[in-house]
Amino acid sequence: MIVRAQAIDLDELRALAAQAAQRAYAPYSRLSVGAALRSEHGGLYAGCNVENGALPIGGCAERAAIAAAVQAEGPAFRLAAIAVAAFAADGRALPVSPCGACRQALVEFGPGAAVTFRQPDGAWADVLADDLLPWRFVLPAQ
Ligand code: THU
Repeated sequence: MIVRAQAIDLDELRALAAQAAQRAYAPYSRLSVGAALRSEHGGLYAGCNVENGALPIGGCAERAAIAAAVQAEGPAFRLAAIAVAAFAADGRALPVSPCGACRQALVEFGPGAAVTFRQPDGAWADVLADDLLPWRFVLPAQ
């Protein structure tokens, strides 16, 4: 989903992530996750998790947002910042840190990007994508 294009701060990105989570399709885990990102060009894109009865093929919110950004901006897309927000079926905010696969996707597009997500104590963590995945896979040149 393309939200709009302009500069934005992390609090607004968090609010957009919470909005995106409302569209999640998560009948199996009952965990609604939303992600909202800003590209280096100032584009704003959001995604939510989309599950499937064939459980392993479900997709995460972060990679859905990245897919929306690449669709809109093309392969030159670079990630500047991303917020992730998650909610239980009763609407309670829950802590969710990006999964390993999403971390790999985040660093591909922006190792220096700000990543913000809720910690178990309810406070927001703000970290660099690079710091979330040390010793990550890099396709070797041949
Ligand atoms: N999920 C995400 O959307 N992002 C993550 O980084 C971790 C997990 C989703 C996938 C699945 O639909 C649900 O959360 C429970 O794992």
